Amino acid sequence: MTRLGILISGRGSNFQAIHQAIERGTLQAQIACVISNVPEASGLAYAHTHGLPTYDLDSKGVKRADFDTKLIEILRKANVDLVCLAGYMRLLSPHFIEAFRGRILNIHPSLLPAFPGQNAQGQALAAGVQVTGCTVHYVDEGLDSGPVIAQAQVPVLVNDTEQTLSARILEQEHNLYPAAIRQVITPVSRSTKTNVE
Ligand code: GRF
Repeated sequence: MTRLGILISGRGSNFQAIHQAIERGTLQAQIACVISNVPEASGLAYAHTHGLPTYDLDSKGVKRADFDTKLIEILRKANVDLVCLAGYMRLLSPHFIEAFRGRILNIHPSLLPAFPGQNAQGQALAAGVQVTGCTVHYVDEGLDSGPVIAQAQVPVLVNDTEQTLSARILEQEHNLYPAAIRQVITPVSRSTKTNVE
């Protein structure tokens, strides 16, 4: 069973959606640990309530490299196969990315490569696009720049505010993240491969 290490900084609604998909049996994985770099993150309460191994590590004032070394230690001890960033609001150091290369996923509220970085929903409104959405992608050293795994589109409505648009995108995020994890951990069946020679 694939073991997930979840990193959060706040509300953790995507983490909850992943956990609920596992509970429903639509995602064959196991949450090995939930780590928050913000001790007061509300997502931690959900993790505690559901008996998940939880770590609150305050990153305030801690050097990124030192903090990430601690993260790597916890994730390795928990035998994590896949690291899922779910609203984790801290950049990862190159040595963290190297340690889990190709095994770190993130969700971002835009159709990447459009609108990377903060406030992607506000960026979409300011740009006047008619369609935006969300993306699950592999994490590399760049800002929201790794290979795309899955995307969902969300139309921008005439009266949308950042709040209304963010809420509709979030709804899609909650379906997309478990589906993208499923896609990553499901081996491609040999019988479905076609040989074209
Ligand atoms: C989501 O919009 C996600 O796309 C972005 O941060 C937000 C986290 O929300 N990376 P939540 O903590 O999962 O509720």
